[in-house]
Amino acid sequence: MKKVLVIHGPNLNLLGEREPGIYGTDSFDNINNEIMQNAKKRGFDCEIFQSNHEGAIIDKLHEARKVFDGIVINAGAYTHYSYAIRDAISAIKIPVVEVHLSDIHSREGFRSQSVIKDVCIAQISGYGKKSYFLGLDELKAVFEKGDQFD
Ligand code: DQA
Repeated sequence: MKKVLVIHGPNLNLLGEREPGIYGTDSFDNINNEIMQNAKKRGFDCEIFQSNHEGAIIDKLHEARKVFDGIVINAGAYTHYSYAIRDAISAIKIPVVEVHLSDIHSREGFRSQSVIKDVCIAQISGYGKKSYFLGLDELKAVFEKGDQFD
C-alpha cells in the first residue's frame, strides 16, 4: 500500500473560520476527514500534518523521504517566498504535488508566484477542498506510471 503525506502550512488550521468567502466554510477537521476518505478510496495509507512553522514543515519533508511514497502540500503563504521549503522539496526523491484551495492566479499579484512550483510534479489551484483530492489523483497517476524521481 502506498503511503502518502498531506502537509498543510500556516493558517490552514483555521479553515472554516478563516476568510470563508475565499477558503470556504468547511472546518479543518472536516476537510481532513474527507482527505482521509479520498486517500482510502485511492488505496493509500495517509497521514496529515499541519504546522504554522517553516522549520517544522522542512523537518517533516526530510523525515518523509524515508517513510512516504508521495506528498501533497498546501504550503500556504510560504508558497510565495520560501526558498527553504523549495530546497527541501528539491532535496527529497519522492513526488510532491502543490495544491491550493483558492485560485492563486486570480488574487493579489504576490500570490501568483509560487517558488515551489518548479520542484513539484503538478500545481493544482482553485478547486477548494477538491484541490487536495485532485492532488491525490496526481500521485496515483505517477505511482501507476512507475516514474522515478531524483
Ligand atoms: C492558499 C493560498 C495562499 O496564497 C495563502 O497564503 C494561503 C492559502 C490556498 O490554499 O488557497 O494560506 O495556499
